[in-house]
Amino acid sequence: MTNSIETLPTPRHTDPADAPPLRWGILAPGVIANDFVDALRAHTRQQVVAVGSRTLERAAAFAARHGFERAYGSYEELVADPDVDVVYVASPHSEHAAHAHLVIAAGKHVLIEKPMAVTAAEARGIAEAARAAGVFAMEAMWTRYLPQTDIARQLLADGMLGEVKVVTADFGGAAAYDPAGRLWAPALAGGALLDIGVYVVSWASFALGAPESVIATGELAPTGVDAQVALVLTSPGGGQALLSTSLLSGTPSLGSISGTAGRIETDSPFWGPSGIRFHGSGGTVLHWADPFGRPYRQGMSYEAAALARYVTDGLTDSPLHPLDEAITTLQTIDEARRQVGYRSAAGGAQ
Ligand SMILES: NC(=O)c1ccc[n+]([C@@H]2O[C@H](COP(=O)([O-])OP(=O)(O)OC[C@H]3O[C@@H](n4cnc5c(N)ncnc54)[C@H](OP(=O)(O)O)[C@@H]3O)[C@@H](O)[C@H]2O)c1
Repeated sequence: MTNSIETLPTPRHTDPADAPPLRWGILAPGVIANDFVDALRAHTRQQVVAVGSRTLERAAAFAARHGFERAYGSYEELVADPDVDVVYVASPHSEHAAHAHLVIAAGKHVLIEKPMAVTAAEARGIAEAARAAGVFAMEAMWTRYLPQTDIARQLLADGMLGEVKVVTADFGGAAAYDPAGRLWAPALAGGALLDIGVYVVSWASFALGAPESVIATGELAPTGVDAQVALVLTSPGGGQALLSTSLLSGTPSLGSISGTAGRIETDSPFWGPSGIRFHGSGGTVLHWADPFGRPYRQGMSYEAAALARYVTDGLTDSPLHPLDEAITTLQTIDEARRQVGYRSAAGGAQ
């Protein structure tokens, strides 16, 4: 198969400020919640109206820092606020399911930080509860909503890569070892796979769908969570994904998708705003560098804007990152954690 294009597709939905405003509540004001609110305030018309923390002091400090008034000393009070439309769950992995259920039971829409839950079974429970309540629920896989990802999506949909055969992605960062910290503690569902491996598995799913087989090998931290893992995923159609994730060393953070007719390679990082290169037949090489000036975590403004559009349109699931795909991604991670011998908070294999 051959292909030929002279220009890359234009990314759609490139201005997060176009999205209609919703009223947001922030559940768990930690590091990422801070960056999320900064991104919303810098690039969207979304209104952050309230925050809930396990302590009133932390909630009040967060609200003061971001210039709004309502601060609650419990998550229960936050989700009960009638002026909150949607809640952003930004707690550690181990807490996502309980906090998502809390939001859904209050009848609010919910954006859950990645990974949506610790296991596929937990994620399935969240999806079922959201569907039963008729509220919108989404994993915060912000990569799906980036302009460069939309270029890749259009190239795939237009058949410009032919049949996808090989997908690669890596995400590694050298993280300081702290047995009690959320990256390393089994009680907080730490480990490379759940924390950043979810991005590489999701990238493979974007290109190939759910795999039919998973091979994983890795190294455990002294706490028993995975410190570094390499994966080979094979799709029913025979395409393979070669993935790597590490908390022990920084890696290039590149993604690629190669097919019988062409390939794409992202700039670094593939998971945040960067750029993309298309290699077509006959030596065609086209490059797109993100021109929008919303680098690194400011790119979270795109996922918030997408959610606001979906909720305004009456959707309860994201067409670009459906709940069922967050569940199958966790199925892959469940299996990889099992193969590397991840030791859960209970002390046994996960
Ligand atoms: N999208 C991204 O690029 C990105 C980047 C980093 C992290 N994340 C994700 O964001 C989530 C939070 O990560 P983070 O780095 O923001 O963590 P963090 O700084 O530790 O903040 C987590 C917050 O959760 C609350 N919390 C509730 N139960 C807790 C418990 N049992 N132990 C500790 N804290 C608890 C705490 O707030 P209160 O006690 O004040 O309520 C804490 O500040 C994770 O799912 C992570 O994977 C996403």
